[in-house]
Amino acid sequence: MHDGGVLALLAATRYQSLLLLHILAAMVWLGGLVVLTALGAHVVRSGERDAVTRFVGSLRTVGPFVLAPATIAVLGFGIWLVIDSDTWDFGQTWIDLAFALFGAAFLIGAVFQSRTAISAQRAAASGNHDEVARQLRRWLWGMRLILLLLVVITWDM
Ligand code: HEM
Repeated sequence: MHDGGVLALLAATRYQSLLLLHILAAMVWLGGLVVLTALGAHVVRSGERDAVTRFVGSLRTVGPFVLAPATIAVLGFGIWLVIDSDTWDFGQTWIDLAFALFGAAFLIGAVFQSRTAISAQRAAASGNHDEVARQLRRWLWGMRLILLLLVVITWDM
């Protein structure tokens, strides 16, 4: 194989690796939200105070250590893919749409979800269980909205 062929092969391998990491991060993000939403809905419905408190407490770990890194990785590798590719460019409609929908999902997560989760944690700490359930139900609606946005983005991809 001549030099051009080797370089083209390496570039293709790099693009494939970035795509793999982008898709893996998207799987963790979307799959994580599905599982958390199902668990959260189940726990609220059960009405068991200890279970609700433990679930709300676990969000403190899952949010910053699983969901936030996956979100950043999806964005980072997505941008890297566009830069790496000769076919895709910023300004193409599907890329702009991805950024707009990602921005909406990110904002809901960073502002609404983190606030309702913190409010639920505070309410749990002060023993106000009706308020915990109320905040958790609001959080669940935010989750469903983010999930819907992620499904639309995946269709767009
Ligand atoms: C935030 C901005 C994003 C950008 C700039 C972006 C960019 C890209 C690019 C350039 C590809 C490769 C397309 C190809 O070579 O055919 C891709 C594929 C993909 N992306 Fe994204 N992406 C973004 C967000 C997301 C999100 C939020 C998800 C899902 C949660 C997602 C899921 C996927 C999937 C499943 C593929 C594989 C489909 C395919 O290759 O046709 N992406 N993305």
